[in-house]
Amino acid sequence: MAAASSWFGKMLGKTLTLGNLNDLLVQQLEDLYSAEEQLIKALPKMAQAASSSRLKTAFEAHLQDTMQHKQRLEKALQGLGAKPGGEKCEAMAGLISEGNEIATTLGDPDVKDAALIAAAQRVEHYEIAGYGCARTFARRLGRDDIAQLLQETLQNEVETDRLLTEIAESSANPAAAEIAKE
Ligand SMILES: [Fe+2]
Repeated sequence: MAAASSWFGKMLGKTLTLGNLNDLLVQQLEDLYSAEEQLIKALPKMAQAASSSRLKTAFEAHLQDTMQHKQRLEKALQGLGAKPGGEKCEAMAGLISEGNEIATTLGDPDVKDAALIAAAQRVEHYEIAGYGCARTFARRLGRDDIAQLLQETLQNEVETDRLLTEIAESSANPAAAEIAKE
C-alpha cells in the first residue's frame, strides 16, 4: 500500500519508527527531500506550460532554488547521521499531478497561468508547513545548525509564495478576468 511508505503511514504501522523527536525530524527531512526531488522534475514542465514570461522566469528561478533546498536537506540529514531515500512524499506527488493536469489541459493561456500559480502556491504552502515544523523540531533538539539551514529554505519558500501572489494579482488574474468580459 502506497500510504504505508509515507511518514504518517509508518507512524500508524506496526513498526515503531518514531521513538523520539530525533526520529521524527529525520523522517520529516526525508519526506521533504522526496518532495524537493519531485519538484525538481516538475518545475521545468510548469515553466514550459506558463505563457507569461514573468511566470516562466519565476518557475525557472525556483528550480535553481529547489536544487539548493535539496542540498541543504542532504547536509541536514548528514548532520543527523542519516541519509535521504527512505521516504516518498505522497502529498507532493498529488500536488504535482494536479499541476501536470493543468499544464496539459487545453485552455486560454492567461487562465492557465492563473491556474498554474494556484497549483504552485499549494506546493509552496505545503513546503512552508513542512519546513516550519522541521525547523521547530530541530530547535527543540538544540540543533541550531540544522534549524538555520531549514530556516533559510523556509524563507525562500515564503518569498516565492509572495512573488507568485504578486504575479497573480498584477498580471495573471487581471488578464484571465478580461477573458470573461469578451
Ligand atoms: Fe523547496
